[in-house]
Amino acid sequence: MSLLVVNAAQVVTPQGRAARSGSRQGEVARHPRAVVRAEGPTVVFVGERAEHDRRFGPANTVVDAEGGCVIPAFVDPHTHLPFAGYREAEFDRRLRGETYAQIAASGGGIVATVAATRAASEDELAAATSERLDRQLLWGTATTEAKSGYGLNLQDELKQLSALARAAAQHCVEVVSTAMPAHEVPPEWRHDHEGYVRLVVETIHPAIAASGLAEGVDVFCEQGVFSPDQTRRLLADAPRHGWRIHLHADELSNLGGAELAAELGAASASHLLHVSQAGIAALAAAGTVAVVLPGVSFFLRDRFAPARTLVAAGVPVALATDCNPGSSHTESMPAIMALACLGAGLYAEEALVAATLNAAAALGRADRLGSVEVGKQADLVVLEATDPKHLVYHFGVNLVRHVIKAGRVVVRDGRLVRSSAPGIA
Ligand code: NIG
Ligand code: FE
Repeated sequence: MSLLVVNAAQVVTPQGRAARSGSRQGEVARHPRAVVRAEGPTVVFVGERAEHDRRFGPANTVVDAEGGCVIPAFVDPHTHLPFAGYREAEFDRRLRGETYAQIAASGGGIVATVAATRAASEDELAAATSERLDRQLLWGTATTEAKSGYGLNLQDELKQLSALARAAAQHCVEVVSTAMPAHEVPPEWRHDHEGYVRLVVETIHPAIAASGLAEGVDVFCEQGVFSPDQTRRLLADAPRHGWRIHLHADELSNLGGAELAAELGAASASHLLHVSQAGIAALAAAGTVAVVLPGVSFFLRDRFAPARTLVAAGVPVALATDCNPGSSHTESMPAIMALACLGAGLYAEEALVAATLNAAAALGRADRLGSVEVGKQADLVVLEATDPKHLVYHFGVNLVRHVIKAGRVVVRDGRLVRSSAPGIA
């Protein structure tokens, strides 16, 4: 099966098979009036129409970009998708002046979502996850990471990951799953954090590894949650389990989380609102991707991560939604790109690279995803705009017209193509 995208104003894409950093964070190739051809799931040509027509025959599917631009589909490298219940009442309390910490202390916060997620069936979680995958796709995300971490016991962590796997099996969005039983200390272990750390290390992590339901692991290293020492112990077995390491680091305070992520060879360190200069230098030296989550800063009315300083120091910066019911309730990567530019100071092209190639690198997939280049997977977005700068400039509206996943049209004219689940032609 072949697919050809025609009548694009331009194709705008980062290039390469590794994360971009420093002055190259914002480097993109622009191919004016180029066509893109895929054979099966793979891009085989990006260039002038006349050259295409000399080298290739007609394609099975032709997508008319109608003067819009073509970019790589977004990769969302940090979400908490398989959750149940919403916290809009808590959101309203925050609007009226209560803080996230005060709400957590009164029994709300993560613990409220843990209770709802434990009470939900696997079917309900799979259905809720699937709806979120649909919404991501409509906003141009074709690959997403998703974490457990609202089960916080063996049975409910496995239920979250199974629900995620079931939703993923029936969806064209590629899902990268991460085990995060160390997202918080559950209420029943509040008086024995060490006991919970031991339970995770000795029982929950090994059982998740044996299930094959996760390819990475994440820990919330934070004051009052898991200390750097506990985080080190929680992640010591990650190599033996074959897991890529991610870390929630330096979000609410500075505990040296970035330094720890670098020391452990983490693929990514997320949040980083309170990262130190030493932490930034450590990330740069290790090549750890900094996943900036400006949705959280906006949603919690907190400071933004020092994105400009991270770029200047040569740390590859990626962007993610952190989609979750408490601190960033959105599936939209364009919304996150706008916040990254207007709140955290990135430039539009830097945000585009952060939402595509660098996000793919955070998930160990930069060799296959994140750019529109010959040999890469044909995961493309056609925008209703001539330039991707409109993604941040024309904020709050969905400019995603078509989405192509592995060479197949999965969103057409802003609507899901329902036959696009895997295995259905
Ligand atoms: O990534 N930082 C910790 N956890 C989530 C928030 C989870 C919640 O409030 O439900 C985060 O921001
Ligand atoms: Fe998170």
